[in-house]
Amino acid sequence: MLDENSDSEALDAGLIAAAQRVEHYEIAGYGSVRTFAELLGEAEAVDLLQQTLSEEKETDEKLTEIAKEANAMAISGSASEALEEVEEPESTQPPKRSLKARSARA
Ligand SMILES: [Fe+2]
Repeated sequence: MLDENSDSEALDAGLIAAAQRVEHYEIAGYGSVRTFAELLGEAEAVDLLQQTLSEEKETDEKLTEIAKEANAMAISGSASEALEEVEEPESTQPPKRSLKARSARA
């Protein structure tokens, strides 16, 4: 992913998504083990595992908030790159307005 995404905004969005996959994996693991501890009557372990599970969920929620901005920046960064790749027309026709100019008027 690092090699394929040189655009920093897209890379940020991808890294956040990867971090969330890790959190979800941890949530599944701690949730399962907490349930096993409940079934075994291990009250202290249940408390500790629940604390950890709650921390993992909090981290996931924070990442979701960060992802909203990072994803928006990745999309706008991609749009800017696409506009920069459009070459100037060689004909005598007046250049078409860019997406940026059109969106500025909207
Ligand atoms: Fe975590």
